[in-house]
Amino acid sequence: MQRQVKAWRSRQIPIGLAPTMGFLHEGHLSLVALARKAVGAKGVVVLSIYVNPTQFAPTEDLAAYPRDFTRDRDLCRHAGVDVIFAPTDGEMYPGGYSAYVEEERFSKRMEGDARPTHFRGVATVVAKLFNIVQPKAAVFGQKDFQQAAVVKKMAADLNFPLKVIVGPTLREPSGLAMSSRNKYLTLEQRQQAAVLFQAINKAKAAVASGPVPAKQLEAELSALLASVPDSRVDYIEFFDPETLEAVENARKGTQLALAVFIGKTRLIDNGML
Ligand code: PAJ
Repeated sequence: MQRQVKAWRSRQIPIGLAPTMGFLHEGHLSLVALARKAVGAKGVVVLSIYVNPTQFAPTEDLAAYPRDFTRDRDLCRHAGVDVIFAPTDGEMYPGGYSAYVEEERFSKRMEGDARPTHFRGVATVVAKLFNIVQPKAAVFGQKDFQQAAVVKKMAADLNFPLKVIVGPTLREPSGLAMSSRNKYLTLEQRQQAAVLFQAINKAKAAVASGPVPAKQLEAELSALLASVPDSRVDYIEFFDPETLEAVENARKGTQLALAVFIGKTRLIDNGML
């Protein structure tokens, strides 16, 4: 990769990057389209595929995380990806590896509480990808709202000379946000998982006529989410999309983020009210 990057840069060819963990779906491919838009027809679009071990806790699904490189490669070909960067663990974290990146503001609460070492792993691998690929633009999904906030802040605070672009969440017709982890769901659970999007819409409707206490709305959404068999709410948070600070009253423009277990599968989603 380093030799290719050097050649592109010496010819002043702009590079766009879409970092992923593979098992691609249309959501990932929509990021490729945004990367292409950012660099133009003469630029190159790199999609990275790397299931990054440092962002998984020992109890999480690193080994089970779905992988299908052949299928990913075909999807990339059709989506206009120029180069796939799929490093090995040995290339990314050689023996004796000891440097990590921590973003300390937006990494707290929500996913940060639920997965304490997660954003350290994300910030580290993304910083490494930025240094290796040296993109002019890097694209992330709104689906992982907090992750996008952490990456933007990390890139700004550490002076990465690139633009972080955040693309909208692509959804199944049912409203379920596309995710590689949806593969863990049975057909029935997949239908039930649409309840996350229904909860976001319910909250939107609730604040349409004025502010509602966050506690009250949280209780209403909890009841809706509990109506699905085998569901368990991890968190429901109402916050300011700029500061990520919790709000007392949810209103138009408030961000809502949800983490809900459907059976053993933990799903996250979010939306602006
Ligand atoms: P992964 O879950 O594979 O997601 C890669 C990118 O696709 C992320 O920016 C994510 O927000 C985006 N994405 C996922 N589902 C989406 C959807 N339904 N619509 C639009 N975009 C979607 O997120 C990661 O990998 C990793 O943490 C990574 C950033 C690659 C670092 O390891």
